[in-house]
Amino acid sequence: MRTIIEPFRIKSVEPLHQTTREERERLLQQAGYNLFLIEARDILIDLLTDSGTSAMSTAQWAAMMRGDESYAGSESFFRLKRVVDDLTGFRHMVPAHQGRAAERILFAVMCKAGDVVPSNTHFDTTRANITGARAVDLPIPEAADTQARLDFKGNMDVAALEALIEREGRARIPLAMLTVTNNSGGGQPVSIANIAAVQAVCSRHGIPLYLDACRFAENAWFIREREPGYGDLSPKQIAQKMFSFADGCTFSAKKDAFANIGGLLCSNDDRVFQRETDLLILTEGFPTYGGLAGRDLEAIAVGLEEILDPDYLRYRIVSTGYLGRHIADRGVPIVEPPGGHAIYIDAGRMLPHIPKERFPGHALAVELYRHAGIRGVEIGTLMFGPAARHELLRLAIPRRVYTQSHIDYVVEAILEVNEKKDSVRGFEIVESPPFLRHFSARLRPA
Ligand code: F0G
Repeated sequence: MRTIIEPFRIKSVEPLHQTTREERERLLQQAGYNLFLIEARDILIDLLTDSGTSAMSTAQWAAMMRGDESYAGSESFFRLKRVVDDLTGFRHMVPAHQGRAAERILFAVMCKAGDVVPSNTHFDTTRANITGARAVDLPIPEAADTQARLDFKGNMDVAALEALIEREGRARIPLAMLTVTNNSGGGQPVSIANIAAVQAVCSRHGIPLYLDACRFAENAWFIREREPGYGDLSPKQIAQKMFSFADGCTFSAKKDAFANIGGLLCSNDDRVFQRETDLLILTEGFPTYGGLAGRDLEAIAVGLEEILDPDYLRYRIVSTGYLGRHIADRGVPIVEPPGGHAIYIDAGRMLPHIPKERFPGHALAVELYRHAGIRGVEIGTLMFGPAARHELLRLAIPRRVYTQSHIDYVVEAILEVNEKKDSVRGFEIVESPPFLRHFSARLRPA
């Protein structure tokens, strides 16, 4: 059969709330044209993030009922640990309340002032948690062209890594990271060949390599589809291979574990792990619960196994590509090729009449909400200021939540907005907080 279906059926539903264009216009004005400030019930299709927004399975809900809420030594922890050990092979694992909590602890333990932490591309919370040290992105140069269709556009520039180590000296680089898939780089995958090459450079210099493994399963599926020699391996075998090159990982269970909350920090280093657990107890909790309830640990344990189902991953990657191809092949410029968890519209290219300072990505986000009640998120000058490399609108797809007709609706809405794109206007900021302004700034049409 050519049709790839959602490999699940629906047992429990949440109604969507329709609004009229007039209501949305009023809601936009009240919210200062900031989609973060609109109540979720007034959003029809919410593509703000794929994080924590997954639909859990019956097996996950059932497992939650056996959550062991013991403060210390919870059975749920050991169930999760067995799954994580089998998947990653890392010696040590602690839970944390979400990915950024794991990042904060990792960097607090490993980095000192003046250090440098290279990555293919750091996610913004990762960058923000590398306090005192400098977060350096080393994507492959071809990734700068949003239109370039590369199989592994998330890769790290290995020559640039060598040059950085040469320039800074090994002593100032406590660890290197690879984000799989590369979220800020368009949800693009990293190949096994690249992970191996980065690991070879790191190990030659004695630098530990950590994965930011939020979307490890989506990355594994891209490897299976695109990298010669992996087509016959299971997603789990490929994921195990990815982890085998690393000395540890941070992980947000809100992505590729279908959980609504949770994170993990894994390491092979006994000394680092000891210091991490000391810190964990201060900020997250005892190491067998790490800021989560026993039932959350159960949901993650089951989710980590479900995510590696080939039928699920095939559907996931194809359905994201479906949205991407249907708009891109009809003239809407996206970051090519479609990523794993999201489609990124290149608003700078789509709306060339709106200058960066007037936030083309945000203007498109507002127009898509006004037109059809769809929420995406700007990743551009509103989010990053003048440092922004592109003006993008990200449409992230929650896992197992929307059906193909929802996505067809999104396609139709984007194509309609594209037809009248010349009338879309930019924005100016009226009120802005001192940092992370995109979350709470108020704007008005320029
Ligand atoms: N690393 C990556 C690559 C991420 O995409 C995220 C979160 C994190 C770390 C932090 O994890 O949210 O559990 O603390 N990304 C979400 C997003 C927020 O919308 O892309 P967290």
